[in-house]
Amino acid sequence: MSALENQLSDRANALKPSAIRAMAKQAGMPGVVSFAAGAPSASQFPFEALRGATDAILSDPLRRAEALQYGASEGYLPLREFVADQLGSPEWPISPDDVLITSGSQQALEFVGKTFINEGDRVIACSPTYVGALQAFGLFEPEFVAIPLNDSGLDLAALEAELKAGAKFFYVMPDHGNPNGTMLTLAQRKAILSLARQYEIPIIEDQAYDQLQLSGERLPTLLELDRASDAAAPIVSYLGTFSKSLTPGLRVGWIITAQPIIAKLVSIKQASDLNSGMLNQMIVNDVARDIMVSHGTKLRAFYKGQRDAMLNALKAHMPDTVSWTKPKGGMFVWLTLPAGMDAGALLQTAFEQERVIFVPGASFHSDGSGVNTLRLSYSLPSTQQIADGIAGLARVIRSLSAG
Ligand SMILES: Cc1ncc(COP(=O)(O)O)c(C=O)c1O
Repeated sequence: MSALENQLSDRANALKPSAIRAMAKQAGMPGVVSFAAGAPSASQFPFEALRGATDAILSDPLRRAEALQYGASEGYLPLREFVADQLGSPEWPISPDDVLITSGSQQALEFVGKTFINEGDRVIACSPTYVGALQAFGLFEPEFVAIPLNDSGLDLAALEAELKAGAKFFYVMPDHGNPNGTMLTLAQRKAILSLARQYEIPIIEDQAYDQLQLSGERLPTLLELDRASDAAAPIVSYLGTFSKSLTPGLRVGWIITAQPIIAKLVSIKQASDLNSGMLNQMIVNDVARDIMVSHGTKLRAFYKGQRDAMLNALKAHMPDTVSWTKPKGGMFVWLTLPAGMDAGALLQTAFEQERVIFVPGASFHSDGSGVNTLRLSYSLPSTQQIADGIAGLARVIRSLSAG
């Protein structure tokens, strides 16, 4: 081991590369159909609007000086106002002072970890859950507590038992969550909020896919239910992002929370990167105000076509021993293999024989369970590749089942 490696902290030594990033090499190989990447489709980025906004900002003597300067750690005020207006309502307005702009919502997740978690603290998350949240919170060495989540929703009895036992917070994605695309019912949302209030455990609501509802009725977020209630102080912190609705390239996300928490987050932001890039925030602000509504409609039509192509292909090709979720939004289908089949081994064979890759489900479980599950993303491949790739994957599953 080198002198540098000898000096690593226990925290750094415990870090493992993400299973998803580890697959980036295979994903880039010719002829490979990747259902692995969670990235949005570049075909949908609003290139012209982004170029126009960038040109306009950099051509304006006052705005360009602001864009290329350091900025407030809280974020660019017009963007905080936009976010507050979008997510608040006339009956329960959200103040821009409740909003902190972050470098993607991933940074907000890390900041939440830094703000709340001491080593050994209990953190409740769904199982499966977003692997990036496990990574971000994991840096602060909590004890993760897993609540089962499947197509029919969350195990509320298990949630209540764990909230009762105490925890720093409950992390949840109520809409089209990553990885299994679940959408919680209104009754479940209300129950979660009322349990959180009863046991005084904050909720961290991650709404990365809020603009990607593809079918069904929209339901109020936990933030909305919380703010619309007559409770004295908010218990929900809300994480949002422009990564899936515009582009992840500018790295602009946000957190909405109570102002005393914003004050802590501002200090953490200062220590981390002072502020998110002003030019990026200004571009996002201008483009979002201009095209968010029309672009959202276009985006949803695209992802609906992708999702339907995948659901149709699964229905046409998969054996009866395999089941999968039918997401109302987002980018992911979650597949359950026959009991005893290992998705890691399947990945190896699917790559070698059919040039198809996906993410094995175990990495989305804090307790290493879910060995016979996997995540399929319908974001990047063409509809033809989706049809061919799913047919290939089904062939491998059938042959492994027979063997
Ligand atoms: C559920 C969820 N939260 C947060 C993020 C982080 O996104 P970003 O940092 O680009 O805003 C992602 C990215 O895939 C995600 O799926």
